[in-house]
Amino acid sequence: MYGILGAVHNVLAWAVLASGAYLVVRGATARGGWGDADSAWMKRLVLFTHLQLLAGLALWFTSPAVAAARASMGTTMRDPALRRLVVEHPTLMIAAVIATTVSGVMVKRASAPEAKARKALVGAAVTLLLVAAMIPWNRLLGRWTGA
Ligand code: HEM
Repeated sequence: MYGILGAVHNVLAWAVLASGAYLVVRGATARGGWGDADSAWMKRLVLFTHLQLLAGLALWFTSPAVAAARASMGTTMRDPALRRLVVEHPTLMIAAVIATTVSGVMVKRASAPEAKARKALVGAAVTLLLVAAMIPWNRLLGRWTGA
């Protein structure tokens, strides 16, 4: 179960990065040309981050590394790598999920294409910044490269 969850969490991370990057580029360039197909990508980003939240929560409760770290929280909080895994990664990623969810609602509510494009750009950029700051890049790539 833990192995499957880790693989799903990795694939979803790529989906979040790809859809977020697409929305930043489209949001910056589409302006009046923003259409339903673009709004559908905003919905996909919200969906991917929500699925990622579920997978992340399940990992937090099933991961042997997290379980060992949680067993001695005093030591964990003094170790930067462990603290990042158990506390900082989940906390900032939850902030990223909230940012995506709020911007998804704002894009939906905006009526002018220019406003939708602007809100999608800001929302996806904030999401990507938070995700990029907390993603374990070595593990994101390592699962595919074997490094
Ligand atoms: C958009 C949000 C998120 C992204 C992009 C993301 C990305 C990642 C990536 C790439 C990994 C390494 C996966 C691998 O080893 O192949 C990871 C590990 C992990 N993530 Fe997330 N994550 C997100 C949200 C969350 C949330 C919300 C939680 C918890 C509530 C969470 C908990 C964890 C845990 C516990 C691990 C380590 C599991 C282990 O080492 O045993 N993640 N995350």
